[in-house]
Amino acid sequence: MIKSLKNQLVIALGILVTVIGVIQGVSSYKLSQAGTNALLDTRLVQVATRMRDGFAEGIPANPSRGSQDDRDVVVVVWKPGEAVPFRTTEPSLRFPRDATPGFSNVVANSEHWRIYTRREPTMTIQVAQRASVRHDLTEETATLALWPTVVLLPLVWILVALVVRRSLRQLNELGREVQGIDTSHLQPLSLVGVPTEIKPFIESINTMIERLAGAIDKERKFIADAAHELRTPLTALQLQADNLAPHIAPGNQERFQELRKGIARSGKLIAQLLRLARADAPVNGAAPLARVDLSEVVTGAVADVLPIAIARGLDIGAEEMVSAHVRAIETDLGMAVKNLVSNAVRYTPDGGTIDLRMRRDGERVWIDVIDTGPGIDEALLPRVFDRFFRACPDIEGSGLGLSIVKAIAARYGGDVTLRNRDDGQSGIVASIGFVTEAVTESVAAPDSVCA
Ligand SMILES: Nc1ncnc2c1ncn2[C@@H]1O[C@H](COP(=O)(O)OP(=O)(O)O)[C@@H](O)[C@H]1O
Ligand SMILES: [Mg+2]
Repeated sequence: MIKSLKNQLVIALGILVTVIGVIQGVSSYKLSQAGTNALLDTRLVQVATRMRDGFAEGIPANPSRGSQDDRDVVVVVWKPGEAVPFRTTEPSLRFPRDATPGFSNVVANSEHWRIYTRREPTMTIQVAQRASVRHDLTEETATLALWPTVVLLPLVWILVALVVRRSLRQLNELGREVQGIDTSHLQPLSLVGVPTEIKPFIESINTMIERLAGAIDKERKFIADAAHELRTPLTALQLQADNLAPHIAPGNQERFQELRKGIARSGKLIAQLLRLARADAPVNGAAPLARVDLSEVVTGAVADVLPIAIARGLDIGAEEMVSAHVRAIETDLGMAVKNLVSNAVRYTPDGGTIDLRMRRDGERVWIDVIDTGPGIDEALLPRVFDRFFRACPDIEGSGLGLSIVKAIAARYGGDVTLRNRDDGQSGIVASIGFVTEAVTESVAAPDSVCA
């Protein structure tokens, strides 16, 4: 069973064309054989007619012997009542004088001959031709008639394969487009130039995309609304706690501080939820896009965490900078890179190293954040971009940071990846890539910002 539609079409059409080609070849061959035979027969009749018209006397009475071997046509003329031929171009050959008038096949001198016998009142004329000569001639012309089919058949196979491939290319492109559908890129597929047979599929896919986009948007709005609504009571709670602080008995201070920390954590979580809802929203005209310098974003993110890094004895630096610009909202890019950098800072033990590098790969520029932390269990790696997923719950966090980074990357057609280092050291390489505005040149690395 051939699964590919392309192969099915090529093989079916190829077999069809081959069958037609073979039938056509065989019939050409047969027709050519019959045509050549008819032509040769006509020649025998013509020679016989000439003999009747008085040419027989022109044949020498005693032709030189043995001279006929190469000649394929032999003429014998009989006169009534005579036992030997009146004239013959090959005296060594004897054909049956009483052969049926018209064409017949005989054996003479252990060779096959085709004879045309013509009876006139004054003479009997026999014109004969070697069957082997006729056979060679007919085969030669018939084989020539086969050539076009032999040459054209492989060409037709190639042509069929090319035509089918061309026709199905559009289908492949559509397949790729459908594969590229992502919850962060829910654009309807274009119907321009789509074959009528495929239009209904595309239309149903588009309806599905529309519904999905609607559902995702509703979910995003719900998260944003919920986070927004939660902010007010939480602020009130925080105020109440602040007011209560002086009245807490010394014995209860520790538990009270735990309560305040809990309130602060909830506040951070709500803030992260709001950020995620904002990052998930498609870019609209509300916030104008600017030409953002990626290397500035990188140095900005390093500067932001520098005080914590210094306090924790972390060596953080940016090197191998590339001059690249992205059309985006600057705070989005800042937040994405800062989330990666702050993860590196939080998960790398004191005294570790964090390197930021930029590299160009085609039309994208990537920012790598490389740390010397513990890395992540390979089995858990595929889940790090899931909302609320946390691989090491001992360190404080919301589990939303990487989801926000992913949403921001997708918002600008970029991508983000996280992998363990493969240079023998433990740690993570977190990379975020953006499509840059124009080709830019590599610039010298600025002074490393080290803690
Ligand atoms: N640089 C890193 N080193 C080790 N683990 C990391 C690193 N970055 C992220 N992780 C893991 O991925 C999880 C998800 O990250 P993230 O979405 O930023 O949430 P969190 O708020 O917990 O930092 C983290 O809880 C952590 O276990
Ligand atoms: Mg994080």
